[in-house]
Amino acid sequence: MYANAVVGNSIVTTIAGQSVTELAQKHGTPVFVYDAAVIAERIRDLAAFDAIRYAQKALSNIAILDLVRRHGVVVDAVSAGEVQRAIAAGYKPGHAHPPQIVYTADIFDRAALEIVAKYDLPVNCGSPDMIDQYGAICPGRGITLRINPGFGHGHSKKTNTGGQQSKHGIWHDQVADCAERAKRANLTITGMHMHIGSGTDLEHLSQVCGAMEKTCRLVGPTITSISAGGGLPTIYKPGDKYVDLAAYFKLWDATRQKLANEFGHAISLEIEPGRYLSAECGYLIAEIRAVKRMGENLFYIVDAGFNNLARPILYGSHHPMAICPADGSSAARGTQDAIIGGPLCESGDIFTQEEGGFVVSRELPTASVGDYLVIGCAGAYGYVMASNYNSKPLVAEVLVENGKANLVRAAQTFEDIVRGEVIPK
Ligand code: LLP
Repeated sequence: MYANAVVGNSIVTTIAGQSVTELAQKHGTPVFVYDAAVIAERIRDLAAFDAIRYAQKALSNIAILDLVRRHGVVVDAVSAGEVQRAIAAGYKPGHAHPPQIVYTADIFDRAALEIVAKYDLPVNCGSPDMIDQYGAICPGRGITLRINPGFGHGHSKKTNTGGQQSKHGIWHDQVADCAERAKRANLTITGMHMHIGSGTDLEHLSQVCGAMEKTCRLVGPTITSISAGGGLPTIYKPGDKYVDLAAYFKLWDATRQKLANEFGHAISLEIEPGRYLSAECGYLIAEIRAVKRMGENLFYIVDAGFNNLARPILYGSHHPMAICPADGSSAARGTQDAIIGGPLCESGDIFTQEEGGFVVSRELPTASVGDYLVIGCAGAYGYVMASNYNSKPLVAEVLVENGKANLVRAAQTFEDIVRGEVIPK
């Protein structure tokens, strides 16, 4: 069930039992707030899988990683920085079953190769070259292959990770060649992974099972684990649908059973969600700083922009929005159609836009300067894609757990922004 307090066109005065006005006054605006109970609920939804590997790129604050770790979730890491985050949050590197941290990417940059060697980390190879490079530093280990099955699907063209136009994974007809490479590099292929895109649907996801079976057969019984990847959608607007998780698990369980029967040993089944675990837990609270008319259009200009939440400008993504009155009262108000803009010196800094940059308005409670705008479902790919554009500081993050609101990241200061900059003498 939808678990975010923001349902379009509403007044919202509390988040996870905390007063929006108090959160805003205490931490300043904009501020991100996360509800731990929602993440925990989403983790429980996926309990049928042998391992839930959180794609931390979606929301990687170490307090969030610590939270999911406490709930038995393992992680992936797509960079040296994400490996360090996982370790800072208490994950142990190494080749346990399942490994707590897996490096998964299409390349090793120099920093990644160094950290993988340092911690003897397991890797999921998204390019054939990674096999040779890993073999050179960790000979004798098992590896998994990320395969591009030749098709993909996502909520936007930019989040489709399969097919010929995608840079991701190893093309499906090169598996035999990769098996040869692995042998030469003294590595064993122990697992197979497919992730066809982010924010897709059951119809597309279910096509992956057949491709997985075929690919695993090309490698044979050294395979002991398979990963269904991430991509589970969440609900941002009316009409969006969750995947029927029981049906989805059933499909993958059947695939796993078939392979287990053929190979004569158990196959463990992983899932790798990012958005599904962390989207609904998150809110971005901003303050309305100007209300103005442009011809027929009414604009609410808030103090958060695409420097804080880039999904609308990048993908035309729809996020639910609500108003919290400055005095925290929940009395009903009339509504108005408004376009929501941010503070940045760029015309595209509009939260209410569709793919292609078409600006649209949103029916919202009538608001004035000093009221708050609460943007919902902002946990996944919100903070992690923020920037310092226009020299705006990265903002504070607050995690609410067991009725307590904890500051889990302080807002940046000007000194943080210019750290490392030098005027040459
Ligand atoms: N596994 C792999 C290998 C991935 O590349 C991704 C996402 C995931 C798992 C997690 O996908 P999820 O379960 O979150 O759909 N910035 C975009 C999403 C980019 C996703 C990148 N890879 C957005 O805001 O929608």
